[in-house]
Amino acid sequence: MDHYFTNNENLKSEIKTIDYEYNGYSFSFLSDNGVFSKNHIDYGSRLLVETFLKNTKTKGKVLDVGCGYGFMGIVISKVLDTHVTMIDVNKRAVHLAKRNIDKMDVNAEAFISDSYENIKDKYDVIITNPPVRAGKNVLLDILENAKDYLAQDGELWYVLRKDQGAKSMEKVLEKDYKIENICKSKGFYIYFCKKH
Ligand SMILES: C[S@@+](CC[C@H](N)C(=O)[O-])C[C@H]1O[C@@H](n2cnc3c(N)ncnc32)[C@H](O)[C@@H]1O
Repeated sequence: MDHYFTNNENLKSEIKTIDYEYNGYSFSFLSDNGVFSKNHIDYGSRLLVETFLKNTKTKGKVLDVGCGYGFMGIVISKVLDTHVTMIDVNKRAVHLAKRNIDKMDVNAEAFISDSYENIKDKYDVIITNPPVRAGKNVLLDILENAKDYLAQDGELWYVLRKDQGAKSMEKVLEKDYKIENICKSKGFYIYFCKKH
């Protein structure tokens, strides 16, 4: 069975565009078959980005883990005028993210990485709408190991749905982070974490 995180080279391409506005900035994303939320901006991703932009004080380097076609990283790069690194395991998603970076002329880069395997730097912010359907081990790998890629005082931001085990994940992550459930909307929980 195909998932949005598998690489299916034979999947027919049907490029479409998805528009989005934030605070006077206009965006137009290229999307395609075989990537997450291919027809619209995902509600959880939008809530996460908008909550992050309203609450963060950071101006530093950002890492978007599981970037898909690049929605979160590109909006953050444009609005905060900062460098964003975007990674995904899905080749088509990374190809789209690269095209969207060029199209919207933002200070960002996108490349393939299975979780943090190709990440060497440390970041002021790690942000993720994590791939819940990839399974609990991948989810834990991305959220728990974020701490090793955060700079001093770095921030981890993520979204999980209540019915996807948001509360139990909160308990697991409490050992590594001071964790705050900063926003709840329509069953989506937004979390802001700092390393102990
Ligand atoms: C819920 S989607 C979010 C996509 C995008 N950030 C958005 O907001 O539209 C999760 C993303 O994680 C990617 N992913 C799945 N497993 C991964 C892994 N092991 N390492 C990195 N990315 C992964 C998927 O391909 C997918 O693009």
